[in-house]
Amino acid sequence: SSLPSSKQYAQKDGFRFFMEKEIYEQSDVVSDCMLERVKDETTSFDEINDSILDGINEIKICACGTSYHAGITSSYLFERLSKIKCNVEIASEFRYKQPLLTKDTLFIVISQSGETADTLEVLKMAKKAGLKTLVICNVDNSSMTRLAHYSILTRAGIEKGVASTKAFSTQTVTLWMLALYFANVKKSISNEVMQKELTALREVPNALKIEDKIHEKTRRLSKRYLHGHGFFFIGRDVFYPLALEGALKLKEISYLHAEGYPAGEMKHGPIALADPELFTIALMPQNLLYDKVKSNVEELSARDSTICSISSLDFELSDDFVKIQETNHYMLEFFEMLVVVQLLSMEISIRLGNDVDMPRNLAKSVTVE
Ligand code: AGP
Repeated sequence: SSLPSSKQYAQKDGFRFFMEKEIYEQSDVVSDCMLERVKDETTSFDEINDSILDGINEIKICACGTSYHAGITSSYLFERLSKIKCNVEIASEFRYKQPLLTKDTLFIVISQSGETADTLEVLKMAKKAGLKTLVICNVDNSSMTRLAHYSILTRAGIEKGVASTKAFSTQTVTLWMLALYFANVKKSISNEVMQKELTALREVPNALKIEDKIHEKTRRLSKRYLHGHGFFFIGRDVFYPLALEGALKLKEISYLHAEGYPAGEMKHGPIALADPELFTIALMPQNLLYDKVKSNVEELSARDSTICSISSLDFELSDDFVKIQETNHYMLEFFEMLVVVQLLSMEISIRLGNDVDMPRNLAKSVTVE
């Protein structure tokens, strides 16, 4: 890309791209996102109060793209922490399926821009059906924040890169805080579990701090992944939506084919693709189902797929390896791995000479169907 103007360079604060700057900003903006919301005993939001759950038995989440991936991630947390049934749908699918909408459903939409056409339409559908609606959004006074009964802002600041990064991390932290807020209202977890969750939550800004050696490793690795007939990103539990997000980042800015997949699904067909030209990015958290994921990766490795594992543990079968800091909570591993997949996709895109900030065919906000 042409050299940035001195003004534009200044806006990037010395980073090569807005996306790179926004990846590095995540630690700070997540701190902003948590300000005044993480208390000693629980989490709280000025924008909502306990009555939001009156008459509510389930949560329905709708979103698009990266915001949809944050929604799936949060569904695991709403069910295991708040003990509220939760399912997540892609807005453009939900919009036309003649869905069943019941008044005991809290309808949550997630949107960085607050203007995405399909997400806005399903919000209108839910409101028209008399459901309580909540939007998790990064832009105040957007169409969605003006329409929803409740709005919680993610405080990520302006996100210029078309490929969303800090919007995703602040959405996920906001939804994790919300799950703990609901857990406190419903008294669905013990004080001990609440404290463990709050302690981990406070550590997220540190988990998002980028060590030079991690960025340098992704830069060096990227030279090996510039061809091949595709990528699988695989993970279990919340690392499945993280795998989806990693695959979307790569597709968006490198134009290489990538798929996010539940690690346990590979043997139901996709493993037929395994060969040295198939690159598998394996998300292998130490604190959640490690042995299960390890056996899935071993199956792929046995069939000659090229494995890049991201883990705090050494894994002898991987061809490449990004070692993250050891932590005691899987959500901290989640954010450490998020940074790795964001940087890896960016470094591959740079080597391919693509416009990282303005990838072809894409708009920052899809305000038309
Ligand atoms: C993510 O990197 C993409 N830019 C895209 O998928 C985006 O997440 C999607 O269009 C939803 O946008 P929104 O969050 O503004 O609703």
